[in-house]
Amino acid sequence: NEGALWGARFATGPSPELVELSRSTHFDWILAPYDIAGSHAHATALAAAGYLEPDEAQRMHDGLDAVARRVADGTLLPVPTDEDVHGALEQALIAELGPELGGRLRAGRSRNDQIATLVRMYLIDHARVIARDLLRVIDALVAQAEAHPEAILPGRTHLQHAQPVLLAHHLQAHAWPLVRELERLVDWRRRAGVSPYGGGALAGSTLGLDPALVATELGLDRPAENSLDGTAARDVVAEFAFIAAMTGVDLSRLSEEIILWNTREFGFVTLDDGYSTGSSIMPQKKNPDIAELARGKSGRLIGNLSGLLATLKGLPLAYNRDLQEDKEPVFDSVQTLEVVLPAFAGMIATLRFDTERMAELAPQGFSLATDVAEWLVKQRVPFRDAHEISGALVRACEEQGIGLEEASDELLRSVSEHLVPAVREVLTIEGSVASRSGVGGTAPVRVAEQRAELVARAQAA
Ligand code: ARG
Repeated sequence: NEGALWGARFATGPSPELVELSRSTHFDWILAPYDIAGSHAHATALAAAGYLEPDEAQRMHDGLDAVARRVADGTLLPVPTDEDVHGALEQALIAELGPELGGRLRAGRSRNDQIATLVRMYLIDHARVIARDLLRVIDALVAQAEAHPEAILPGRTHLQHAQPVLLAHHLQAHAWPLVRELERLVDWRRRAGVSPYGGGALAGSTLGLDPALVATELGLDRPAENSLDGTAARDVVAEFAFIAAMTGVDLSRLSEEIILWNTREFGFVTLDDGYSTGSSIMPQKKNPDIAELARGKSGRLIGNLSGLLATLKGLPLAYNRDLQEDKEPVFDSVQTLEVVLPAFAGMIATLRFDTERMAELAPQGFSLATDVAEWLVKQRVPFRDAHEISGALVRACEEQGIGLEEASDELLRSVSEHLVPAVREVLTIEGSVASRSGVGGTAPVRVAEQRAELVARAQAA
């Protein structure tokens, strides 16, 4: 078992089947730069505690730099006998420095505290990329809202026509959850900045190394308070996977609408050619594949979270090898978002809205019936009665095949004495929308205020 990180207490080497099962280099190699950063920090801590002479520490750092260069240029790759990234990199360091010096670095650390630290470093780096990409989607939604400050959309509940709203209000309603994902990432970062390095396998180290020094060197905020918790807890990974899954769900909800809006029946949007796809057989097709992939991949993001939680459930303290299974799902969540978000931002930024068609459909389905009821309330009619009267007017108009705004004076009066011609002042879409001026409402002035608040929150995150 030449070159492995363990073996002396074993009479034989590992079976080939075990080696196959155990190997993780095909997915943990992406942690190599973080492992090397951890080794630099650890070498500094060993030197500070007197386990490396200054010149040895210098040679150690140089050796690690040489290994880092070989990782970066692709000349160092794991070989089939390497169990994981930690072992492979130690082998490479020993090849650089010889076993006498290269073999000193492992003192006072374990792969258990290493891996628990490295996965945090990786996630912190990618959280920054994802936050930047999220901001691009938010910006694209805000820009579309700004470009259509007065456009009307038939608002729906149960997918049925409900009340007219501003398109900008609706787009901003999709931006808010993404702002909250940004805020979740910021909040997550406060918990992620803990360094388990120095916890050893589980119980801490006897060597008097300074874990705060290592944490600082690695750009983390502080060492873990408890070595068992530090090496065994993965809630920080699960929480990240949750934010990724929730982001997937946010994008999927918007995707579903874009897919519907893009149908001939709705006809609300046209997708830019650069952000839609064709069919291999039907020459006329222009498909919303970005929205469909975002919707589809949200399932995968949810799966990554559930798989991870299932892995963690029932694990006794402290480290168990099951924990190796945390990486593939969360790496996949990172990689998925890093391809979905940029494409999604481009699709939103280039959407073209048919605002005439949306405005034309907005009054359909008697979507101003609530306005009639609320107008009656302003005339001091109890809402109970107002609701009845407005409902009766809907039925009368439906029977005649006309819209509310087309009801004659006679028809209005026949439904209720309270329905005088002045009610028509609320029977326009613009009037309806403008009158919903309470906090959070769809009146243009409120929506513009809301947009400023949204942009400020996104920038503050
Ligand atoms: N590759 C492992 C992981 O990803 C770390 C190694 C810990 N191995 C061990 N036998 N304690 O979690």
